[in-house]
Amino acid sequence: MRVANFNAGPAALPEDVLRQAADEMLDYQGCGMSVMEMSHRSPEFKRIIEAAEADVRDLYAIPDNYRVLFMQGGGTGQFAAVPMNLMRRGVADYVVSGRWALKAQQEAAKYGTANVLATSEGTGYDRIPDCSGLEPTPGADYVYICANETVNGTRYHEFPRTGDVPLVADISSCMLSEPLDVSQFGLVWGGVQKNVGPAGVVIVIIRDDLVREPALPITPTVFDYKVAADNGSLYNTPPCWNIYMCDLVFKWLKAQGGMEEIGRRNHAKAELLYRRIDDSSLFRGTADPASRSTMNVTFTTGNPELDAAFVARAKADGLVGVKGHRSVGGMRASLYNAVTLDDVRSLIACMDAFERDHAGSAASSSSSSTSSASSI
Ligand SMILES: Cc1ncc(COP(=O)(O)O)c(C=O)c1O
Repeated sequence: MRVANFNAGPAALPEDVLRQAADEMLDYQGCGMSVMEMSHRSPEFKRIIEAAEADVRDLYAIPDNYRVLFMQGGGTGQFAAVPMNLMRRGVADYVVSGRWALKAQQEAAKYGTANVLATSEGTGYDRIPDCSGLEPTPGADYVYICANETVNGTRYHEFPRTGDVPLVADISSCMLSEPLDVSQFGLVWGGVQKNVGPAGVVIVIIRDDLVREPALPITPTVFDYKVAADNGSLYNTPPCWNIYMCDLVFKWLKAQGGMEEIGRRNHAKAELLYRRIDDSSLFRGTADPASRSTMNVTFTTGNPELDAAFVARAKADGLVGVKGHRSVGGMRASLYNAVTLDDVRSLIACMDAFERDHAGSAASSSSSSTSSASSI
């Protein structure tokens, strides 16, 4: 029996896609072998990677002056690859909105000056910093943001305007979850292991002019965007099966109605859950409402023991992965593309039952947390 999977990544994949992959596991379209077993130089795999690029271009309506690269090294690899490729003048600006933007800024500081242009550290990264009057540092190579903070449960609802300075975004936890106007960015990249496929692939979408110049000389060849672009992402052996899986998901997304329809569904799921949290006398959301993520809904009872009891109850009900990230605690339900509205309804039913069983606990837990807070 499959569970309702609220994991933050790796995460739920569409059941139809998993079934198709299972059907094709031993014999991919009459080749007599799995995609895992075929040469990355074979005509069959060439067709798969070309279809994957064409499908992601279609889904996001990517303009012709952008290159689509399939790379490795995960999100953490991109924290280094971005500065190594783009910090040609040695200076970049970072908006530090949470755990993942902070990691990116810290990694970039190894390769040049990584300014913190704005931060929400002061409020515990519960929101996206105000970027309305953002002035990039003169001569900065790029401004970097994390479009959706997976751990903190926040997202940009409007992207900063950076004028001539290219805007770079980590879209790992919101990739292909709603329409995105790629032309606002110099570069967007995302690890696929949340909305799009099995871990092991990073999709980089980069504007032509940024890939024309060489990377910093220290850049490992495997992280060099120009090498990847000049070789159709086939300079070295790519994770063939993972790219094939991504393309099955791209085709599934198209069959569902594309980004408009997927975005509509994702917003409906998130709204339903946030409404339940806001109506609750036991649970409360942890992100500032104006910055709430559509993908990662973070909430708590305010009492770690009750939170743990809720996570255990949810698991017993077949609702997996709702424990918050170890750095922030509480709960987090990730509502990626393959999570259904029914999954969200089941989570809400579990919250209803838990709240009934713990009526009165909220008042005592909040008064105990107030008194413990005031005693220190
Ligand atoms: C938004 C975001 N960026 C980057 C990363 C790091 O990715 P990886 O674990 O592939 O290095 C994650 C991981 O969850 C993430 O959520």
